[in-house]
Amino acid sequence: MTAKKAHLLGFVQHGVNSHATGMWRHPKDKVGWNFARPEYWQHMARTMERGLFDAMFIADELAPYNTHADSSDLTVKFAVQFPTHEPSTIAPIITGATKHLGVGVTLSTAFEHPYSMARRLSSLDHLSGGRIAWNIVSSYSKSEWDAYGAEMSDRGHRYERLEEYMDLCYKLWTSWEPDAIIADKESGIYADPEKVHEVIHDGPFFKSRGRHFVAPSPQGQPVLWQAGSSERGRDFAAKHAEAIFAVLPTVARMREYSADLNSRLVERFGRPKGSVKLIFGVQTVVAETREEAQAKYDRIKACIPPEGALAWMSGHFGLDFSKYDLNEHIQDIEVPGIQGLFESILYARDGEPVTIGEAAIIYAQGMGMPVLVGTPQDIADKLEVFMDDGGADGFMLIATYTPGCFEEFVDLVVPELQRRGRYRTEYSGATLRENLLAN
Ligand SMILES: Cc1cc2nc3c(=O)[nH]c(=O)nc-3n(C[C@H](O)[C@H](O)[C@H](O)COP(=O)(O)O)c2cc1C
Repeated sequence: MTAKKAHLLGFVQHGVNSHATGMWRHPKDKVGWNFARPEYWQHMARTMERGLFDAMFIADELAPYNTHADSSDLTVKFAVQFPTHEPSTIAPIITGATKHLGVGVTLSTAFEHPYSMARRLSSLDHLSGGRIAWNIVSSYSKSEWDAYGAEMSDRGHRYERLEEYMDLCYKLWTSWEPDAIIADKESGIYADPEKVHEVIHDGPFFKSRGRHFVAPSPQGQPVLWQAGSSERGRDFAAKHAEAIFAVLPTVARMREYSADLNSRLVERFGRPKGSVKLIFGVQTVVAETREEAQAKYDRIKACIPPEGALAWMSGHFGLDFSKYDLNEHIQDIEVPGIQGLFESILYARDGEPVTIGEAAIIYAQGMGMPVLVGTPQDIADKLEVFMDDGGADGFMLIATYTPGCFEEFVDLVVPELQRRGRYRTEYSGATLRENLLAN
């Protein structure tokens, strides 16, 4: 059997700082680039395409975190995923600068009707020639609900609503028959109304009556991505997603997770193994020598503002950590927020106790992802273990300083993976789905 080849995604946000807190102040961050301008995104896109990445993954949340001390002051003060611009606006810039690279946009279902969501995603899929993915989220952060003037609903309710949301999206995406467009100038008939079916939906959460406003896009529907990690979230992901994201700090946790997801996939939802890619988060710090890589890593860690770290952790886990003693163990606490990411710090030291103060720094550095520091060979060695022993199909690379971290990965690690036969040497498909689902 030939060894599995890695899939790669660049994990970023449309903002001044992505997921590694404090990176905006790193001396190598965005030198000569403005994240709010197209040139920066064109360069990032071309770099990832040069490295044959499947896609750029644009994370998002809808408003600045305000869980810490019931305020968004520290979020604002330390640029904790702040400011963050709307994610789908850059998709056409990215796909316009490339031929193969896909874009995964995170779009929340919480405050948008499925009808307009389906329309927007079909439009983006057309504009990109079939290179759009949708990271389906339902707004886990209180700040998002506050900003939209709504009462936050519980997890069970959010997933129930999400099921119906998807149901209506699928109805819209499949409502046109393939030969619906006639476009006969002679007769003046553009489309056959018999073949553009009206969608009538009347459910507990949504009502809709209308035809999908966009003709079928190259992929028919966007590639579906999901990162739910609670019991309910894992089922939702196993049922709907084509790529699932997780942050798992050790190989043992990866193995457990992969076994769980694969069994849900096959046993509960009757989907073939391999029809969903398991993509794990990693943070890499690469250099030609180990000493150089370690020095780079130390410089990166020196950028983390401890207060900003606490504000971020409070936002993601839905708990006000300003009320806790920093020496308290994280293992003794239960959080209402993103369960899967909390587990990444619970197990950051193989289950050994971690204090809140330490957890904040681990988390702020890269969301609890395993950090690989070393030469291209060291990093490729670890990625191979994550694939072969941990069950990973690919990796989402969390940004440190940009665009440098992606340039370095593409220049140093990609050729090493290719030499080992563990990475593609060209794109094989025309659409994102074809590339992502290839072995
Ligand atoms: C790797 C990873 C990335 C995520 N990215 C986002 C994101 O960009 N925006 C968001 O609203 N939620 C994001 N989430 C949160 C989940 O998609 C999900 O909404 C959240 O985990 C709550 O669902 P759960 O309770 O089932 O885990 C992410 C989760 C993980 C593990």
